[in-house]
Amino acid sequence: MMLPDIRTADVENKTVLVRLDTDVPVENGQITDDSRLKAGLATVASVLDRGGKIVILGHLGRPDGEVVSALSLAPVAKWFAEKLRVGSEKLEVIKFGDFDGWKLHENVSVLENLRFYSGEEKNDPEFAIQLAKLGQVYTNDSFAVSHREHCSVVGIATLLPHFAGVRLQEEVSVLDGLLNNPKRPMVVVIGGAKMETKLPLITTMEKIADHVLVGGKIASEYRNSDINPKVLVGTLNAEGTDVTEESIEKFLSIINSCATVVWNGPMGVINSKFKIKSSELNFDESSKGTVLLAQGIAKSSAYKVVGGGDTVEFIQRMGLTDKFDFVSTGGGAMLAFLSGENLPGLEVLRT
Ligand code: 3PG
Repeated sequence: MMLPDIRTADVENKTVLVRLDTDVPVENGQITDDSRLKAGLATVASVLDRGGKIVILGHLGRPDGEVVSALSLAPVAKWFAEKLRVGSEKLEVIKFGDFDGWKLHENVSVLENLRFYSGEEKNDPEFAIQLAKLGQVYTNDSFAVSHREHCSVVGIATLLPHFAGVRLQEEVSVLDGLLNNPKRPMVVVIGGAKMETKLPLITTMEKIADHVLVGGKIASEYRNSDINPKVLVGTLNAEGTDVTEESIEKFLSIINSCATVVWNGPMGVINSKFKIKSSELNFDESSKGTVLLAQGIAKSSAYKVVGGGDTVEFIQRMGLTDKFDFVSTGGGAMLAFLSGENLPGLEVLRT
């Protein structure tokens, strides 16, 4: 899939609105996994190096159009201030047109969580106009949210010259290869709790993958396994907080027979705060299924792809990230792309 490349855009003396993956895990105001933010740095550098200015657009969590202080992008603004070495102590909220945000220095600003505004998720045309007024060029470098028809992903791109960021293009290129020519058999492991996003994807994934393994909260909702023999739904424990060890064993025996493994979503209510103590993992009971699955996938000789905020943070804490061949920033977006869906955030860049 060819997308217009931000590296070919004329950005000198222009302000580029850059949609990034800012939906990172935050605990007590601290970012606990910054891989999604790091993924956006190449685009930021490319624009700044060519004399452009940047306004970073993003979201955190699901505040549903309300201001939720725990979901402020302040930690993200601080992270960029530190990365760009501009000092982060004095960041103050200031106005950018109709929006709140932080000016990191004269060339880089970060807007507050766009999902604090109801127009963002509705892809409200008025909201898109307000956003578009802040710059002259738009870039999407947020693969993880490209399956959402939101203002900062779609609406704004219809109003400004639009381009794909560096990381977005890498994601699309790797996942395109996998979609068109996967080494078979291919197994897709789907877990997590975002029912409305993932349940329909199980059905589309059945058509593409040789096996689909379902765990996490969605395992309690999915009831189609007796119809399609490709789908194996894990059994949850009595509390419904984790997939049983027996199910993980069945999952791993299928995984070990496959040449490609794609994984998104934890198997249970994971405790992302677990610590690694002198090479021994100290995790709570409901993280066990995910720990065993991660260890098992890491050992498989298949081509291994993993994606999604929680899942990527989890393997990072387990020290297993480098066992995977590709770590996607996207969770639902990765699954949607691999199931052959057209992602609205990519389609709009091609028009
Ligand atoms: C993600 O974490 O997958 C993206 O940030 C999208 O989040 P959403 O499912 O809340 O739209």
